[in-house]
Order: sequence, then C-alpha cells, then structure tokens
Amino acid sequence: MAKAVRISKVLAIVTVVLTISAIGGIASMLAVYLIQIQKNPPTPPPTIVSTTAFPTGPPPTMRLPQNVFPVSYRIHLQPYLYAAPSNTTKQSFVFTGNSTVIIKCVETTKSIFLQSKDLNVTSVTVYDSISGDDLVESYQLHDGESNFLEIQLKDILYGNESFYEVFTAFEGELMDDLTGLYVSTYTEDDEQRFLAASQMQPTDARKVFPCFDEPAMKAEFNITVIHRDGTTALSNSQLYTEKYVEIDGDKWVVTEFHPTEKMSTYLLALTVSGFKSKQSPTDNRIKTWARPDAVDAGYADYAAETAAEVLKYYENLFKEKYPLAKLDQVAIPDFSAGAMENWGLVTYRETALLYEEGVSSTSDKEWITTVIAHELAHQWFGNLVTMKWWNDVWLNEGFATYFSYLGVDAVKPDWNVEDLLFIEDVQSALEVDSLNTSHPLSSPEADIDSPSEITELFDSITYSKGAAVLRMLSNHLGEEVFLNGIRNYLQEFKFRNAEYKDLWRCLQQAVDAANKHDKVEEMMRTWTEQVGYPVITINTITSEVSQQHFLLNQTTGHDLAWHVPVRLMKSGKPDILSDLLREKGPVPKPVYSTTGDEWLLANVNRTGYYRVNYNTENWNRLLLQLESDLEAIPPINRGQLIDDAFNLARAKLVNVTLALDTTKYLLNDTEYIPWESALQNLEYFILMFDRSEVYGPMQAYLQKQVLPLYDYYQNFTENASVPVSHTDQYNQINAVSVACSNGITKCIDLSKSLFQLWIDNDTNIIPANLKSTIYCSAIAAGEEEEWEFAWEKFQSATSATERDKLRYALSCTTKIWLLNRYLQYTLDPDKIKKMDAVSTINYIAKNVAGQSLAWDFVRAQWNYITQEYGAGIMHIGALIDGVTQRFSTDFELQQLKQFQKDNGAEFAYPDRALEQAIERTEANIKWVKENKDIVLDWFRRESQVL
Ligand SMILES: *[C@@H]1O[C@H](CO)[C@@H](O)[C@H](O)[C@H]1NC(C)=O
Ligand SMILES: *[C@@H]1O[C@H](CO)[C@@H](O)[C@H](O)[C@H]1NC(C)=O
Ligand SMILES: *[C@@H]1O[C@H](CO)[C@@H](O)[C@H](O)[C@H]1NC(C)=O
Ligand SMILES: *[C@@H]1O[C@H](CO)[C@@H](O)[C@H](O)[C@H]1NC(C)=O
Ligand SMILES: *[C@@H]1O[C@H](CO)[C@@H](O)[C@H](O)[C@H]1NC(C)=O
Ligand SMILES: [Zn+2]
Repeated sequence: MAKAVRISKVLAIVTVVLTISAIGGIASMLAVYLIQIQKNPPTPPPTIVSTTAFPTGPPPTMRLPQNVFPVSYRIHLQPYLYAAPSNTTKQSFVFTGNSTVIIKCVETTKSIFLQSKDLNVTSVTVYDSISGDDLVESYQLHDGESNFLEIQLKDILYGNESFYEVFTAFEGELMDDLTGLYVSTYTEDDEQRFLAASQMQPTDARKVFPCFDEPAMKAEFNITVIHRDGTTALSNSQLYTEKYVEIDGDKWVVTEFHPTEKMSTYLLALTVSGFKSKQSPTDNRIKTWARPDAVDAGYADYAAETAAEVLKYYENLFKEKYPLAKLDQVAIPDFSAGAMENWGLVTYRETALLYEEGVSSTSDKEWITTVIAHELAHQWFGNLVTMKWWNDVWLNEGFATYFSYLGVDAVKPDWNVEDLLFIEDVQSALEVDSLNTSHPLSSPEADIDSPSEITELFDSITYSKGAAVLRMLSNHLGEEVFLNGIRNYLQEFKFRNAEYKDLWRCLQQAVDAANKHDKVEEMMRTWTEQVGYPVITINTITSEVSQQHFLLNQTTGHDLAWHVPVRLMKSGKPDILSDLLREKGPVPKPVYSTTGDEWLLANVNRTGYYRVNYNTENWNRLLLQLESDLEAIPPINRGQLIDDAFNLARAKLVNVTLALDTTKYLLNDTEYIPWESALQNLEYFILMFDRSEVYGPMQAYLQKQVLPLYDYYQNFTENASVPVSHTDQYNQINAVSVACSNGITKCIDLSKSLFQLWIDNDTNIIPANLKSTIYCSAIAAGEEEEWEFAWEKFQSATSATERDKLRYALSCTTKIWLLNRYLQYTLDPDKIKKMDAVSTINYIAKNVAGQSLAWDFVRAQWNYITQEYGAGIMHIGALIDGVTQRFSTDFELQQLKQFQKDNGAEFAYPDRALEQAIERTEANIKWVKENKDIVLDWFRRESQVL
C-alpha cells in the first residue's frame, strides 16, 4: 500500500509477549459457560484488601491496556443509503448501529479502553454478566491518534477471568474517503448508483463501531446488517437469515450472518450494493461480485475461474483447508489500495479483478492474477495466522507477495513469473533499501505505535524485501524443507497470532527433521533485524571475498555482516557452486578464484538479496562474454549484471562508464528481463538529463540500441498480432515505447495513424497490449484535438481498464496549458476519482513538460490535498515521491527544504517521504555534477553510427 522508508538503529527486538493464547477456544464454550453462571451463580470474588487504587498504571497513550480482552461481538449496522435512488427519494449518507461485546477481564481494573473514531457514540453500558447491573460511571473520547473511548466504572472489574458485556450505540457518516464504511459510486443506465463498502486495515474498524482495534485482540463477530430493499449485504461469513421488514413506512432487509471464526478487527468487511455475482465454475464456495453491467459482459469470468484454481493450489500446498464456508470477491469502483484480503470477503479495485477480453492487456491479466493470488495467500498468512503487532506486518505481506508468485505460476506455468519476481520485487526493494532512510524488515514493537506509523510500514521493504528474503531462504534450505516449516507454523498458530521468531522456530524444526545443519534464526536475523543488505566483492585473481553494507551514499554505511548464501558459476563449467559467506572479509576462499580467461558469476538466478562486485578483469570477461555469446549467461543474470553495475556506479564502487558499457550488447538481446533492467536503470539517466544537453546524444544512443528490437517485433506491431510468449509480449511493449519516446519516426507515424483511425471511424483497432503506449505517443505528438478526443473517451468509457490507459495517456501531451488544465481536474472527483488523483499528478510530473507544473500545483494545493486525501496516508507519501523524482538542482533542493519547513512537522507521514526526497535530491545533485561530462562523452561516442 504505502511507499515510505526510514531507518532504525535499534537492532535487538524486545517484545512484550501477550498471553492471548489463553483465550483460544473460549469462544465456543462461552455460551455454555454463561448459562451455567446464570443457573448456578459462583460465590462472589473475595473483597480485595490491597490498598492499590485502580487503575494502577498511568493511562495508556496509544496501545490498549491488556486488562480486558474481547471474546465475542454482536454488531448491528444500518446504512441508510439507497443503491439506486429514484428522482423522488432523498439519498442519505449515514449509518446507525450498536454493538455488544463480551469481554473477559484478566487484570483487575476500574476502566475499560476501546477505540472509536469519527463516530457519535450515543450510549454506553457495561453489564455485569451476573447481576446485570450497569457499571458505567462516565465515558469520554480522547483527542488525537489513540482514538480511545475511555469508560470509567463505578466498581472495579476483577481480573479473575470473569465476563462482562460492553454495549455501545452510535451513528456515523458514509463519506467518500475510502476508509471505514464508505460510499462508492458508478453509472448504470446513465444514472448514478451507490454502494457502501469497507476498508478497515490497518486501523479503521474503529470508524465503523467502537472496538478493541488491535490485531492480537481476536474475537468472534456476529454481524447483522439492516439495509434497503433491493440491495444485497455481504460480510465475512455466510448468510444466516434474511428477513424483510418495514421501518417507518420504508422497506428494509435484515440480513444476519453466521458467527465468524476468531479473527482480527482489521479483517472485517461489509458491502451493501446492487451488485451481481458470478459463481466459480469449479468451486461453489467462491462468488465474484461486480457492477451488473460488468458481470453481464463476462468481466468477472476470469477472476471466478482463477480464484478457484489458486485456492485449490494453496489448500494442497499448505496442507490446510481454507477454513471458511464461502469466499466472496468484490470489485469496488472506488478503492484506495489495490485490494484487501478481508477474511471471506476480499475487495479489489475494478482493474485488479475484472478482466476484459480485447481491452485488458497481458500485463493487466498478470496483475489481476497476481493480486488474486496475493489476497488468497493472505487467507492463511494474515487471516488464519496473524502477526502479533504491526511491527511484524512483513510476515503478512512478505508471505503473501512470495506465495503470490507460486500461486500465479501454478495457474499460468508458461508465464515464468518467478523470473519476473526479480524485476518486479527484488530490483525495486534493492533500490529503496540502499538509501539511508531505509528501515529493517522487522521493527521493534515499541517503535510502532500510532496509526500513521503503522500505515507507513506498508512500503516496498515490507512487501518486496519480505518476499525476496523468504525466497532466498527457500532456495537456501530447499523448497520442501521450507514448505514443511511453513506448514508447522500454520498448524501451530492457526486462529492465533505469531511473531517472526515463532516462524524461525518452526522452520528450524523442519531443518532438524531433515537432518540438515542450517541455523535458521542465526542466518535470518542478519536479514530481518539489520537495515539494508550487503554488496559482495569478489577478486577472482586473489580469490578474496568480502562484504559491506551497500548504500548509494557509501560513506554512511554501517559496520554490519550478513550470512550470505552465494551460488556461483564459472565459464565453461556446468556446476553451480555454493558458499555461505559469514565473514566480513576480505578472506581468501578457493571457490572464488578462476584460471586463465575464465569468468565467474555470483548470485546465479539472483536468488540472493544482495549485489555483487568483481575485480576489473572479471567484469571485462563478463562483458566480453555478453558481446560474443550472450546465451552463456542466463537472462536473469544478464539483467542482474546491468542492475548491479548501474547501482555500484551510483555508489561510486565502479566507473559509470562500466555501467553504461553493460548496455552495449543489448543490440543483440531480445529477452525482456535484461532490457527491462536496463530501461529501469537508464530511466534514472533520463530523469537526470532530459533537461540538459546530454539528452540529444542519449536519445541517439537509445534509438540505435532499440531499432533492432523494434524491427524484431515489427511484423507483430504492424499487423496487430500478438507474440506468443508472455515476456515477448512485454518486450514488444518496451520496443514500441522506447522507439516512440525517443523519436523513431516510423513508430510515431504508426501511433498517429492508428489513433487517427479511431478518431475518424470511431473504431479502435489498437491491440490491447499496446494501447497505453500508442495512446501516449499519439497524444504526445498530437494537438488539442487528440487530447480532447481522448478526454471524451475517458469520460464515457465504462471499462475501468480502458479509463486507466486513457488517464495515463492524457498526461503525455507536451502542451503546457493542457497539462495545467489536467492538473486542475484532479481536484474534481467528478472528473478524476479520488483514488486516482495522486497517480494522475505523478504521471504529469513524470512528463518533462509537466514536472515543474506538478510541483507548483502540489505546493499551491497542499492544504486541500492533505485534507481530502489525508486518510489515504500512503498516497501522500507516493505523491511527494513522485513529484520530486527529477530533482537534481540546488534550487530544487532549497524549495524542498523550504516546503518541509513550512509543512513537514504537521504530519508525521509526509515528513518521512520528504526526508527521503531530500536525501535523494542531495545525492542527485552530487551525482550529476560528478558524472555529467563523462556521461555526455560516452553517449556522444557510442551514439555514432559507424
Ligand atoms: C455470537 O453468536 C454465538 C453463536 O450463536 C454466540 O455464542 C455468542 O454469544 C454471540 N455473541 C454475542 C456477543 O452475542
Ligand atoms: C429521473 O430523471 C431523469 C432526468 O431528469 C429521467 O431521464 C429519468 O427517467 C427519471 N427517472 C425516474 C425513475 O423517474
Ligand atoms: C441494536 O440495533 C438493532 C437494529 O437497529 C435493534 O433491533 C436492537 O434493538 C438494538 N439493540 C439495542 C440493545 O438497542
Ligand atoms: C454527530 O453529532 C454532530 C453534533 O451533534 C452532528 O452535527 C452530526 O450530524 C452527527 N453525525 C451523525 C452521523 O449523526
Ligand atoms: C553522504 O553522507 C554524508 C554523511 O552523512 C553526507 O555528509 C554527504 O553529504 C552525503 N552525500 C550525499 C551525496 O548525499
Ligand atoms: Zn497484502
């Protein structure tokens, strides 16, 4: 969800272990127990003679006290909105509700703390379950981020595991803020339609009902929804009863659901809509819901099939059945994140669930498959076993990300997605993790307190480094041992909470059972508790090897060492050799030496989360090999050599010319991974130099390099036919996009004519895969007419996928006044949906013509943007990140610092993003100063067509 990173110097983890496991199993026994109590009341507890007054400690600041635990909730919610208001009914955006929660008191107290946010709490009662007396003396809401609803009691509650009932009644507003219970809209039959949807993670269940809103406070939930006739209510568990009633002359439906499993509040979900569903053909537990038009058009079919296949695969893989009776997945027209794994009711953006034949591209399809596989993996990792506290949220997200690749691979084996993991997750994690502002995977529990600190953890370290490190471990231990350990972990902790040390213990059991000698915790703590990752330096002549903390600013590196599994190969030899490097070094190890012209390549298939540097001789031999016969090096490692060389150059560990030299052989390479790796790295050069004289020679070089690739795909491109392999389809997009954006005439002409055909005949024959690229090129090369045409198509399109492609393409114009107008549109949710505003502004900033416009706009509208989008915290971080990408001058740095001074302290979250932007800008300034002349010379020399 989020993108923001930070550092923590504290490496040791001190965790307060909660004794919540003690309440496991209580839920089902509770009814019996209460009945027994009533029939045969136990003798009252002895009067406490201690002189201690209650509450004993100071009031809590952010975390709930551990004196009472929820066991079971009964919640009534009544949203008043109509899904399809007729012209005479008045739409109403409020909900009312009440909640009864049975709590168990484990520590004597005179107060109860719950959490409640933006709700009008109209009544609070605490019942003694024996006497039935109301114990409330007073209650009050705390200001600030704790969102505490503090209830002071007339009498103390005894910590002898006795039960009480807390009742609250409340009212709330259905806003379009994409959090809690909120309203989303769409168009059907030319009329506006409404639905209520929910997003609780991480801390917004408290916006829907007062609750104990911490992941370890698991409980059972009995949910009843009272909703307008003609709408369907869905929640986590199966429908129990549906009754039609009349209230004040209006028709309502009372939908009651079965009790849920024992679960965390952040996984609760609710939708009330006029949606239709599609049953999965092979699994009657699964339904896919969306707008009726979309379901009728068959857009839910792919997701329905895929979810069934993935769920079955996981059940076999984890040897643990999906524990719920049903699984609904719903496409919500307004949705902040990509999707949310709510137990039994997974919610998605439309573009992450609805596959539209002929409109959606291959990459849309991969995205949909990946998101489904990610959310379904969470049904085990996160939902069944939950992290104790948010500091370990990487256990949730790292596992879901890692297993999503296995899940996709199971249903689409010909896509080879595990190879793509290298580009999509490993490479991006390595990039942010090389900044000073990065943070360790696992933060100390005490460092993570407030909702904004929690939200900030949803970044690429948590997702992508989490996945990369698990993949490294799986490769190191062997997949079967790894999976056995994972199965132990699920068995031991299901319906409960775990911390990362529990995971190491379960994996160690599997290692021991296989008679292996690996020390899981010893190795893994170097990757999870320490910030960053190492660069391994190998000298093939002296056979010496060493490791150091890799940072772009190498002067600030920490004195750390990792346990690094190194897999390596040497030219002409088929064997893959292994070493576990623990020493900082340099130490001589024979395995790292070569003889004669032999080259050595480390981190084969890049299963390790680190970079590799070599002595110059070895670098040169590797480059020579690429020039003479590139097949000798696997595509992933061709991509790795490029990525490592570019990043080592940024850290000044190798010359920038060596990095650029790794791209020369691409003239002969048609594989996607090396190309994508090069393009991602060259993007940095484009951002740094597209406002300078370097840009001309650089474009000439890119033209020269991409021309063979463009020609390789020309038949496909011109005849609108689709290459067979998944990665070929991707590389065709790269070929067209690089060719068009660097001014290759035949590419631009093709884009213009295809787009013109659409304008003239109103028939769009542009292949789905190439739509984004071709729309973008045509609009960039076009005038107002093209832009207006695309804008009109954007507004009238009913397909979310098509809208996304057009929304991007509209940012490609070079006309300043059009870009300025487009920026203004992002403030109007009727034009650009709130969920899309930040990415639209970032698209505009990415365009060199829009860079300074976007930055001025963000500064001018800052108050409005933070007010309106404050709830989607992670998006504000992404906004700062996006609009400052190109910053590389002293003037821009001054502006950024001034902006931080004026606004940063107000909010914790953009401040982290601002710090990161400042660090990056400082590094950019220095880098441009040091490298501009060298880079200019290099591009001049290499762009010459001999
Ligand atoms: C929820 O339902 C279960 C099963 O019917 C019941 O045992 C439990 O007491 C209910 N919880 C509340 C708070 O009413
Ligand atoms: C509501 O009003 C619109 C335009 O005013 C009209 O086209 C539509 O038929 C009306 N719908 C109903 C249900 O009366
Ligand atoms: C809670 O709300 C439901 C639905 O409005 C209502 O039927 C019930 O009486 C309420 N419970 C209490 C104790 O007020
Ligand atoms: C909450 O209370 C405030 C102040 O009384 C009122 O203005 C607001 O409308 C109430 N909100 C809801 C949803 O009832
Ligand atoms: C690198 O870090 C040092 C020490 O913190 C700092 O003085 C220097 O400015 C940084 N260099 C760059 C390029 O950011
Ligand atoms: Zn996730």
